[in-house]
Amino acid sequence: MGPHWGERWSHPRAFSSSGRTRPAMLYQHLRLETADGVARVTLDRPDVRNAFNADLIRELTDAFARVGADPHVRVVVLAGEGKTFSGGADLNWMRAALDCTEDENIEDALAMSDMFRTIDRCPKPTIARVHGAALGGGVGLCAVCDIVIAANDTVFGFTEVKLGILPAVISPFAIAKIGRSHARALFLTGERFGVDRAMAIGLVHHSADPQELDVAVDRILSELKTAGPRASQIAKRMIEEVCEVDYDASRELTAKRIAAQRVSAEGQEGIRAFLDKRKAEWVRA
Ligand code: COA
Repeated sequence: MGPHWGERWSHPRAFSSSGRTRPAMLYQHLRLETADGVARVTLDRPDVRNAFNADLIRELTDAFARVGADPHVRVVVLAGEGKTFSGGADLNWMRAALDCTEDENIEDALAMSDMFRTIDRCPKPTIARVHGAALGGGVGLCAVCDIVIAANDTVFGFTEVKLGILPAVISPFAIAKIGRSHARALFLTGERFGVDRAMAIGLVHHSADPQELDVAVDRILSELKTAGPRASQIAKRMIEEVCEVDYDASRELTAKRIAAQRVSAEGQEGIRAFLDKRKAEWVRA
């Protein structure tokens, strides 16, 4: 079973208390580096365009569970090494699946589902830094991140049907992100599309020249740095909560959320700092 809100809901420390870099975790197919409150998860299979196999799925799930629970991490940036963000599921791994039983195939698909769910429910704000191509599961990774920043020559596509398979596991996340209308147009054709369409359907939030991509990511990191760390996290969780209940329940729930945040140390500090015409504690940290 995938993670639930609240289980890993930790109080974040400041963006950086000390500018300290924490040691990189050892993974085979990705890199995880944390510095200044920013965890950078980089897919590291450039020879196969960062396609994911069972090992990468396991590592990515583990990395996001880890950074979600790490009180030193305030934001997570997901990126891809080499020419391309991600070419989706590893087609060699899929071909090998022909020799597996149906139960084994279901297990693989469930593990991939749990990976997307873990990223989707990461309590920290997540940014996808996308370049080259995001196809199949690669576009699924975009769907489960909060803010997607793409190089303006990136190619996107729910390309599974071109291979005679389905955008199955990513569909709940993709449909939640782009809606039924765009899902119907794009899942059925498997056509590739550019950043303009990706922005029009709500998959991508910002685009930049490829050489300016990191500047665009840094700009969003600066925006997150000036937001109350706990407020950002609770806002993220609240979006899901509100979408899951009817209006009467959301009326109660949102009243509780704002009441709790107003009286919290962070809410009090934020309002006081504004009225005192000074920067809030978390901005200065
Ligand atoms: N699974 C396994 N290997 C993949 C892969 C995938 N999803 N995507 C790319 N690769 C491999 C290629 O087979 C090639 O291997 P080779 O060097 O042994 O020939 C290598 O990565 C480079 O691919 P190439 O197509 O030459 O690179 P490119 O930079 O010109 O294009 C892509 C990159 C991602 C646009 C292109 O490889 C592509 O369209 N891949 C298919 C993506 C797809 O349909 N994914 C859906 C999966 S469900």
